[in-house]
Amino acid sequence: MHTQAWALITGASSGLGVEFAHQLAAQGYNLLLVARREAVMQQLARQLERRHGIRCHTFAQDLSQPGADIRLVGELDLLALVPDLLINNAGVGCFGPFIAQDHERIQAMLQLNMHTLTGLTQLVAQRMQARGSGSILLISSIAAFLPLPGYAAYGASKAFVLQWGVALREELKDCGIHVSVLAPGMTRTAFFDIARQPITPFWNHFMLPAANVVAAGLHGLRQSRAIIVPGWYNRILTCCSQLLPRGVLAWVAKRLLQVNTDSGVS
Ligand SMILES: NC(=O)c1ccc[n+]([C@@H]2O[C@H](COP(=O)([O-])OP(=O)(O)OC[C@H]3O[C@@H](n4cnc5c(N)ncnc54)[C@H](OP(=O)(O)O)[C@@H]3O)[C@@H](O)[C@H]2O)c1
Repeated sequence: MHTQAWALITGASSGLGVEFAHQLAAQGYNLLLVARREAVMQQLARQLERRHGIRCHTFAQDLSQPGADIRLVGELDLLALVPDLLINNAGVGCFGPFIAQDHERIQAMLQLNMHTLTGLTQLVAQRMQARGSGSILLISSIAAFLPLPGYAAYGASKAFVLQWGVALREELKDCGIHVSVLAPGMTRTAFFDIARQPITPFWNHFMLPAANVVAAGLHGLRQSRAIIVPGWYNRILTCCSQLLPRGVLAWVAKRLLQVNTDSGVS
């Protein structure tokens, strides 16, 4: 049990973030929950406090706004709290032909998935370094391993998290800070509704429950693994993606995802 330890979870109002909160609370972590929907987080916080005897704080922040990372860490500084564990999880996808997508939506996605994630990691890691210890789990995706027409910008944002995260892991080793990257495949959450990707029975077949993905992520983190890919078929996919030319992968992915680049999403 880590009764004094604090875990900061972004995207803690839904899906993987809520599951991280449940599993970390069960391990005795106190929680710092961040997302836009404050009422949902408050309800989760009170439930976990009652069930596990831990402490929770909630922070309503739109992490797609420039400067959100600085504002959030400013609030933590006021409480004199340095997280022992950072779960950098908040993220969204935008599915469909890139050229037809809403400009502001794409910009907000890139800000959330990359800029805020990077900025928050830096600010928290500086404080972990001053203390001499800490762990960081960055949520990427198997979309990071292959070019994905229909998710072109989203996949690239997750490739950034993967590449940057593994490099950062090497840098931060010397400061006593551990970094792992979790790259989930398709997971049963609100992600696809928000990304506006219709889920066919074929894709439904490959969905893992959020609880399994989070358990695999926390296990991999404890084992100090660099990259954690939950699910055997996701691991096969990531291995194959290293063997085939990127052009071939993109051609296959476009057909599997059924992206109609002429007139919209089929
Ligand atoms: N589900 C999958 O198949 C899958 C696969 C690979 C990777 N991932 C990654 O897993 C992570 C979690 O996604 P999920 O599947 O759990 O999806 P989800 O159920 O839609 O949860 C997304 C979380 O991110 C938060 N969020 C979204 N926009 C935000 C913003 N502007 N500011 C602050 N918080 C924001 C949401 O909270 P609010 O709406 O309250 O702000 C929510 O708590 C994402 O990084 C996603 O890319 C998911």
